[in-house]
Amino acid sequence: MKIDPAGMDFRDLHHLLAGAVVPRPIALVSTLGENGVQNVAPLSSISIACVRPPMLSFSLSTRRRKGGEKKDTLRNIEFAREFVVNVPVVESIAEAMNKSGGEFPDHVSEFTECGLTAVPAERVRAPMVLESPVNFECRLVKILEFGEHPSVSSLVIGEVIMAHVRDEFWANGELQSAKMKAIGRLLEPYCRTNEIFEFNVEYTL
Ligand SMILES: Cc1cc2nc3c(=O)[nH]c(=O)nc-3n(C[C@H](O)[C@H](O)[C@H](O)COP(=O)(O)O)c2cc1C
Repeated sequence: MKIDPAGMDFRDLHHLLAGAVVPRPIALVSTLGENGVQNVAPLSSISIACVRPPMLSFSLSTRRRKGGEKKDTLRNIEFAREFVVNVPVVESIAEAMNKSGGEFPDHVSEFTECGLTAVPAERVRAPMVLESPVNFECRLVKILEFGEHPSVSSLVIGEVIMAHVRDEFWANGELQSAKMKAIGRLLEPYCRTNEIFEFNVEYTL
């Protein structure tokens, strides 16, 4: 079967891409609004943009059903030019994460609505998610816009300026990712990382 993306609508293109790029990691991106409200949203477009300097990227789409309205996360980042990437989403906060993906008015904090704990970061004003194994404090580097109104995607790239790791997930100078019980996303369903295997092959970075 062959599929020509030309002429496909947004939903079908999303399903083609997000059904194939699996499993996707999920980040909780936390920001502070111009109105002082602490915001958090789950994003499965999170990726490593660069290792040195350390940079993370994620993509935010507009709300098409609301005439192409920007999401709070994007508006907050455009305003404050900083944010925190809290990763990975782990089983114990799966429900809270899923709830935080719902639509809340911009004066409502998803932290209190969803039962996540906001703690102060060190170098940015955006809060960190206490329950996440790792918090990356980021300063905005660039936002690249693709697509046309009302279906615009903004690729946000930020530099990690401070990292926090929960002690239980750090041993021998390394992150213990296998212990985290991270969850991932398929097209829409979620998956666990409780079956891990490895190969004894060395590769160079
Ligand atoms: C697991 C999961 C992954 C998501 N990934 C993305 C994403 O990568 N980009 C995006 O724009 N929205 C994504 N969403 C939807 C946003 O989380 C949702 O639109 C949210 O309401 C945005 O919140 P905000 O308005 O506070 O920024 C995802 C939702 C879930 C549940």
